[in-house]
Amino acid sequence: MIREWKRCFELSTKDTTYVFRARPNGLLEHVYYGEKIDLFGKAGSPEGLTEGASEKLADGQAEEFAVKLAESQVEALTEKQAFAPGNSLCYDQEDKSFSPEYCALECSAAGKGDVREPMAEVIGKDGVRTLDFVYESHEISTGKQPFQTLPGSYDEAGKVQQLKVILRDSWQQLKLELYYWVYEDCNVISRSAVLVNEGGSPVTVERLLSFLTDLDEDDWIARSFTGAWTREMHENRIPLTGGKYVLSSSTGTSSNRANPFFFLEKRDTSEDHGTCVGFHLIYSGNHYEAMEVNPYGKTRVVSGINPQGFSWHLEPGERLETPEAVMTFSAAGRNGMSKNLHAFVREHIVRGKWKKKERPVLLNSWEAFYFDFNESKLLKLAETAKSVGIELFVLDDGWFGKRDDDTSSLGDWTENKKKLPGGLKGLAKKINAMGLDFGIWVEPEMVNVDSDLYRAHPEWVLEVPGKAHSEGRNQRILDLSNPDVQQYMIDEMSRVFSSANISYVKWDMNRVFSDAYSQALPKERQGEVVHRYQMGLYRCMKELTEAFPEILFEGCASGGNRFDLGILCYFPQIWASDDTDALCRAEIQNGYGYGYPQSVIGAHVSSCPNHQTLRVTPLETRFAVACFGVLGYELNLIDAKKEDLEAIKVQIALYKEWRSVLQFGRWIRGKSFTGSQDGHGVSNLWDGAGNLQEWYCVSEDRTREFIALLQRFAIPNSHSIRLRARALDPERIYQFTNRELKYNVKGFGDLVNTVAPIHVKQDSLLHNMVAKFVKLDGETENYLLRGDVLMRGGVNLKQPFGGTGYNDQVRYYPDFGARLYFVEAQENKEA
Ligand code: DGJ
Repeated sequence: MIREWKRCFELSTKDTTYVFRARPNGLLEHVYYGEKIDLFGKAGSPEGLTEGASEKLADGQAEEFAVKLAESQVEALTEKQAFAPGNSLCYDQEDKSFSPEYCALECSAAGKGDVREPMAEVIGKDGVRTLDFVYESHEISTGKQPFQTLPGSYDEAGKVQQLKVILRDSWQQLKLELYYWVYEDCNVISRSAVLVNEGGSPVTVERLLSFLTDLDEDDWIARSFTGAWTREMHENRIPLTGGKYVLSSSTGTSSNRANPFFFLEKRDTSEDHGTCVGFHLIYSGNHYEAMEVNPYGKTRVVSGINPQGFSWHLEPGERLETPEAVMTFSAAGRNGMSKNLHAFVREHIVRGKWKKKERPVLLNSWEAFYFDFNESKLLKLAETAKSVGIELFVLDDGWFGKRDDDTSSLGDWTENKKKLPGGLKGLAKKINAMGLDFGIWVEPEMVNVDSDLYRAHPEWVLEVPGKAHSEGRNQRILDLSNPDVQQYMIDEMSRVFSSANISYVKWDMNRVFSDAYSQALPKERQGEVVHRYQMGLYRCMKELTEAFPEILFEGCASGGNRFDLGILCYFPQIWASDDTDALCRAEIQNGYGYGYPQSVIGAHVSSCPNHQTLRVTPLETRFAVACFGVLGYELNLIDAKKEDLEAIKVQIALYKEWRSVLQFGRWIRGKSFTGSQDGHGVSNLWDGAGNLQEWYCVSEDRTREFIALLQRFAIPNSHSIRLRARALDPERIYQFTNRELKYNVKGFGDLVNTVAPIHVKQDSLLHNMVAKFVKLDGETENYLLRGDVLMRGGVNLKQPFGGTGYNDQVRYYPDFGARLYFVEAQENKEA
């Protein structure tokens, strides 16, 4: 609900309230963001949309009291200044007591006394850079219009409320529109700003961020996610003190270097308790987030397009939109914040046919064959895939031009007939005949210099003509700031997508920007190239996804180099990382999980030793991690051991049984490997923070829960573990079981001799024979429990293997082990 009273704005969601007001001098003061409060009481109209509400309350004592209360509450929360301290600046000579630097603000620009991060920087009339945006008017309405140039959130139910506040710098004749959208159910408020040049001459915009807010406290800890290729979403924990902490990307993508999602928390915040404020940006290009603690105890947070390298020539009458930024407040710890953001992403970002549709289990050919395949190899792989329950076969890179490695052919999207004599169409037919859907990989934004496309159109590429180019993966970037190139891409991809029965497309992007110069733009507009590229890309994605609504698109950029809400407005899932090692993935996916739901995270089981780390992890663990994303497999199943194929078949069957919960249930984090950052290291002798990771996924109706317990290192003679389920109905009866497993005796090495009647030499023929025929039973867990007992008391799990003794009630739990547990409401079960 949005209420206005005396130029004070109260934006309320189910559990939170955000307040700011226009000060008498016209500057916007940030007043409050936190748990829900009723600031205006009866002084605001009961219906909430309250322009002019104060006049309606002219008579009657009760009304008088209501007005007094509201006035007093607003007064209590707002900034008091009797003098501008020391050498701080006065905003205007009429009021020498007010210094903007001292105050929490909602919008601020440079040149009038606020020396913190500005929201906008513009070179205007006569080269003047001073900006002075003051309140002019506001409008409250219901519903949200799409952006003209950018993706944004949406509300199918049409219930989202909008507040538009118009600010004006009358000297520069610039109008700044601040937008707020309130998504009540998921406790999200999103924001954006639009600058309009209402003057008579062009101006240069050097910075226009999406939002600015000053949190009125200075004891925050910033939690951010930085990384690199195969090491995405590494968690950081930075106590904010005087000065700035900046996250940004200048790769041309939202980047794996610093994800645009971040959050702030307090020192005592944990997964389930305490204050947490999360921020997202719906943008896939260069972004910038700064958190600045000033000497007056305010923490400024800004986010938007990275000003580095950006400048925008704004002609009279033109407007410049900024990407939508997303905020959520939670008093229920990080899981509370994630609950809000997961719901928001699922409901108000992801769209189209796949929004709520279960995603198929796929097999991707990349780690199976890389570039080295032909049709018969692919068909053999597909046959094996089908036999274990795979539903979608994806042909990755290498099917077009003369692409046998990464040095050529990007841009030439015609089949390599040596590899695929019947082309995509012929192959798709054969794959479909097996009962599998068929998907392909493309990288439409790129071109190799060794390609017919580059030879025909060198001017369509981002490069500085005549200057040596810095290449990335031997490829260059098509100039999507040029509408001709956009149209070419739309036409060419439309041709490819309709050339065969294609159900899935993996859209890859494998380099960072360099030499970002467009031959289609004049010199004064070169600072616009990277943002125009994004707008061009969004146009292509929009037109193609609308033209092919049945296709399941998966975004990818060398793994997670463009994992953001902008992409998710078009593609319902993104390949999270080229790192498929289960231990790394457990950490990477846990990181994504703070801000993104599992239904958008592509995750695959791959072979061992793992191709990125050479680590050997149990197949069960690889599955346990991958099934907390959108499950796929990416390995050469033709060469897999029979035992592994059988295990995979059972995994896929299990996944299908739980798919609706795993893809669309509520994902909750318990202990995590990165919990070590809360002050404990990982020890080889103690199951302290950092050694275990717990993931829970609960169905929306709270009847089913799927739990994974992951371990980093085996601990000898370790203590027991009590596993507590989450978010169930306390009064319902549930069955708690585990996934019963059988073990290969070879996992016990020469301990086999402690029970074998004859001596067994390790890896001997005899050992292998025994391993083939004798499987050891794993432990069983089976309890009937009330929800409250299961959530509060928990289940004291069977003892893990610890050096002495093993029987079928001991948990075999080696390094990198995993266990799956299931909770099902009893009445759900057939008698
Ligand atoms: C990078 C992707 O992240 C991989 O999964 C794979 O598709 C390769 N590109 C293919 O070149």
